[in-house]
Amino acid sequence: MIFFLEADIFQFFGRFHSMLVHLPIGFIILAVFFELISLKKKVDLNLAISYAFLLGACFGVLSIILGLMLASDGGYNEDTITLHKWTGIIMTLLTFLLFFIKRKQSEAIWKKKGYPIIVTLVMILLFIAGHNGGNLTHGSNYLFEHAPSSIRSMAGLKPVRERVTILDSALVYEDVIHPIFESKCNVCHNNDKAKGELLLIDPKSILKGGKNGEVIVSGNALKSELYRRITLDINHKEFMPTEGRTPLTNEETVLIEWWINEGVSFDKKIIELSLTDRIKSYLQDVGIGLKKTFLESLNVAEVSPQTIDSIKLKGFKIKPIISKSTLLEASYSSYNKQELSQDKFNILLHAKDNITWLNIANANVEEELISNIGQLKNLTELRINNTNLSDDGLKQLEGLKHLEYLNIYGNPITDSSVESLQKLSGLKKLYLWKTNITEEGKLKIKDSLPDLTIFLGE
Ligand code: HEC
Repeated sequence: MIFFLEADIFQFFGRFHSMLVHLPIGFIILAVFFELISLKKKVDLNLAISYAFLLGACFGVLSIILGLMLASDGGYNEDTITLHKWTGIIMTLLTFLLFFIKRKQSEAIWKKKGYPIIVTLVMILLFIAGHNGGNLTHGSNYLFEHAPSSIRSMAGLKPVRERVTILDSALVYEDVIHPIFESKCNVCHNNDKAKGELLLIDPKSILKGGKNGEVIVSGNALKSELYRRITLDINHKEFMPTEGRTPLTNEETVLIEWWINEGVSFDKKIIELSLTDRIKSYLQDVGIGLKKTFLESLNVAEVSPQTIDSIKLKGFKIKPIISKSTLLEASYSSYNKQELSQDKFNILLHAKDNITWLNIANANVEEELISNIGQLKNLTELRINNTNLSDDGLKQLEGLKHLEYLNIYGNPITDSSVESLQKLSGLKKLYLWKTNITEEGKLKIKDSLPDLTIFLGE
């Protein structure tokens, strides 16, 4: 039986602890449940209750043996494991006691007072042992990891820092590396379970290293034990993560390599490190991307159906820019020969925050209403071609800072409008066919808006 002494065999059996341990819990709760029923319904369940306690206690003993085997491997937080061990042992002994009291119910005189107290005590110990066991397996953050901030603060935990996912402002450690360690490594390298005496929970613990000293050599991933462990063959005994846990993806591994080679920063922004296209694309794989577009970041309340109807009554077509969006696209049919008057347009202003695309091309537009278009501050696309728009009219649109697309073809616009167009700083596409803007004017516009493409065809 010498093989029994081998640590691996201990580990092999020990791992069944986490599974088996739920059996005593179940039997004990069942016993207490029967007890409550028999009190309420006045039925005699004493035999069932006593056997449930007995089964709970026996499986409790088995769990204790397996638990001790599992713990022999070490790497667990001493305080947590001591508490877990002794609450489990005392609870099991008391459960045996409950079984005996139940069997000899008539004789035990002190039972009437003592029994409920012991039952309560067992339930409390069960809760403590169970909770600490959970912390040992999953880490003490596990339970409240995804709780809302208010509940976290009640549990005495730091509010979670909202992860920044925009490339320009994200931090390399907080937003890229830390989340990788948290999701792939820290079930085993945390405060309650520091396997290999290594914690990967914060800068201090990472720099401190494990039982064999430092695991990271700043600036040199290839000399770093941590990097060696994650790049070994997956079947290698020392490969991390162990025990068949989900390994790092290729992207995550490369990002850790990059972070080490770039000097193991804990406070720098991503953009302060050197960034290749490959790293940028890998960062996208872990959820760090470019800035949201203006439309993606817009958050406006829905327009009421009544308002939509009243806008439609005035001859507009209006619909969400994409399904389920609160943002709207409005157009005034070019076949509608009736003048688009200021009265009609004013109704549209009831949805002025929501309208991002407006098409009044070819419409017979009353000149005075142009200034009202300037009130549609969230406009990103405006088609106002063939509407007799003048330089004065265009001046009214200078405030549309989010405008990306502007079609003013077929309007009597001259170089006097160059300045107004230069002020549309978000502009990317401008349609100038059949206007009176000269080559020189176009060059001026292009110079001040480098992202802009000017289209001269229809
Ligand atoms: C399932 C548990 C488990 C997970 C998950 C896990 N490790 Fe480990 N780790 C261990 C155990 C057990 C040891 C000690 C035995 C050994 O050194 O191989 C260890 C040791 C290490 C060591 C060596 C420490 C020293 O000083 O000897 C490093 C480095 C390490 N782990 C890194 C990682 C990284 C990085 C991850 C995440 C990608 C990770 N581990 C995930 C269980 C785990």
